Amino acid sequence: MRRHEYDVVVIGAGGAGLRAAIEASAMGVRTALVCKSLLGKAHTVMAEGGIAAALGNVWKEDNWKVHFRDTMRGGKLLNHWRMAQIHAQEAPARVLELEEWGALFDRTKDGLILQRDFGGHRYARLAHVGDRTGLEMIKTLQHHAVHRGIDVFMETTMFRLLAEDGRVSGAIGYERQTGRPILLHAKAVILATGGIGKAWTVTSNSWEYTGDGLAMALEAGADLLNMEMTQFHPTGMVWPLSVRGLLVTEGVRGDGGTLKNAEGERFMFRYIPEFFRAETADTEEEADAWYEDKTKRRTPDLLPRDEVARAINAEIKAGRGSPHGGVFLDIATRRSADYIRRRLPSMYHQFMQLAGVDITREPMEIAPTCHYLMGGVKVDPDSQQSTVAGLFAAGEVAAGLHGANRLGGNSLSDLLVFGRRAGLYAAEYAKRLARMPALDEERVRRAERDLAAPLDRHEGEDPYAVQSELQRTMQSLVGIIRTGSELEEAITKIDALAERASRTATRGGRAYNPSWHTALDVRSQLTCAASVARSALTREESRGGHTREDFPKADAAWGKRLVVTRGGDGRMEISIEARPEIPAELQALLGEERPAGAPAAAAGGS
Ligand code: FUM
Repeated sequence: MRRHEYDVVVIGAGGAGLRAAIEASAMGVRTALVCKSLLGKAHTVMAEGGIAAALGNVWKEDNWKVHFRDTMRGGKLLNHWRMAQIHAQEAPARVLELEEWGALFDRTKDGLILQRDFGGHRYARLAHVGDRTGLEMIKTLQHHAVHRGIDVFMETTMFRLLAEDGRVSGAIGYERQTGRPILLHAKAVILATGGIGKAWTVTSNSWEYTGDGLAMALEAGADLLNMEMTQFHPTGMVWPLSVRGLLVTEGVRGDGGTLKNAEGERFMFRYIPEFFRAETADTEEEADAWYEDKTKRRTPDLLPRDEVARAINAEIKAGRGSPHGGVFLDIATRRSADYIRRRLPSMYHQFMQLAGVDITREPMEIAPTCHYLMGGVKVDPDSQQSTVAGLFAAGEVAAGLHGANRLGGNSLSDLLVFGRRAGLYAAEYAKRLARMPALDEERVRRAERDLAAPLDRHEGEDPYAVQSELQRTMQSLVGIIRTGSELEEAITKIDALAERASRTATRGGRAYNPSWHTALDVRSQLTCAASVARSALTREESRGGHTREDFPKADAAWGKRLVVTRGGDGRMEISIEARPEIPAELQALLGEERPAGAPAAAAGGS
């Protein structure tokens, strides 16, 4: 086993991990960055359309208060108000800092950073680089990080956190290429491992997104929050099947794309919820006028993602879908070929090369795809520290900012704002510790044995079979629309799969052995899937990314958070807790507004 010692270990090298590592190293502490894949390959690149920040470059009326309000409304008020406030206040500085570090944003005619429209944002607010914003962000952060002398462990998967007496002391994992175990002894650990999209069949996430950080955090004694809140991005590719789920950026609709069903109807006008009615155009003429004159009411194509994904799902179920099981997204009617190729170069190439569709002339076929987890590790809103001392979390793996539904573009700003904070506070925490935390060598040996267990078994379950059955279960029973009986069925299946996963056997040795890696990944996936399904069964209402057919309305009594913990006997427990009370001055920014279907009392302070 290789052993290393650091002050701060950051697990995950997407936007949040890179930003955290940069900050920790700038604080002068010994910092390591671990990535499961190669450096630069992160789900962050799947936030294509832009980074949300109230810079006020396109609309001088924009400011942090409007951004805060939009984020809270989009999250159906389940957000942690303090995180939403910090995020809205600090996002502009983080974008400008990224520009200083070399990010080349598109410009306004006056040379300012250009901002585009996205769903749920009152003003054009997304700073962008064509439709490759996440990629530009990762490249910029990566260049900045490598020049800071941070130690990077590529193609390394962490398997277990080491924690004694409620305090973290490091993490243990393995090098994917050699299979050799690795122990990173640390004063503080930051989780930046992203989400769990790979637990579904149709997802924009790639193979790395197996919920490792969430499962490790729960096992180490940290609390998880609102795990039922999963986001299905309205627009993923549906065809060819090999790329089903691949993201089609919301920037297409931000730049003028409209949704149509097989009858050519712009169906979104039939799905405007009461909550957003006042500000949403209800005729085609009015919506079209908004594209030219942004003071008008907004097109319903740009309602928040939960609303649009549900509407598309309903159209497909009603038999008004496209030939390959989606609906149509048409930008060719409104915009010129030059405009489309300039503003959306990746989408143009993606459809041309993968589907043989020229989006400057034809509509795209799209359907919802599992994209993001709003739930995650429960953290302190200012420091990002979890309920385990020395364990921090930032980005998608952490919960709170987005409530029940994330607005597009808020993830990239989340990564920068809270990645920086996690790095800062983890470094401060590490500096306060006079010496390295003690390691329990017996726990280390047990972790090593558990890591190798699937390799030592020569007879048993096929890890790939367990994984694909889990994905089918989540897709069919824990999807956009949920019911109590299906969730119960899912939980029974997940429990049975977990039992099978404890008996997986793999062939071959330690050196690059994907079947062994899958056997380990699927255990994390199952832990996360169980927490999603159990939380979804517990929440008997519909709110944001969680829609219950048997409880179709938001319920004021459910304006609460669900906490997932690991009980003393190792079993998962779910409890309900009140939301932190919103200070009166911030509540005033939200006005009388309330989630769709909720009685007026739901707007109340907590
Ligand atoms: O549609 C998109 O470009 C995705 C953005 C996001 O998830 O924030």
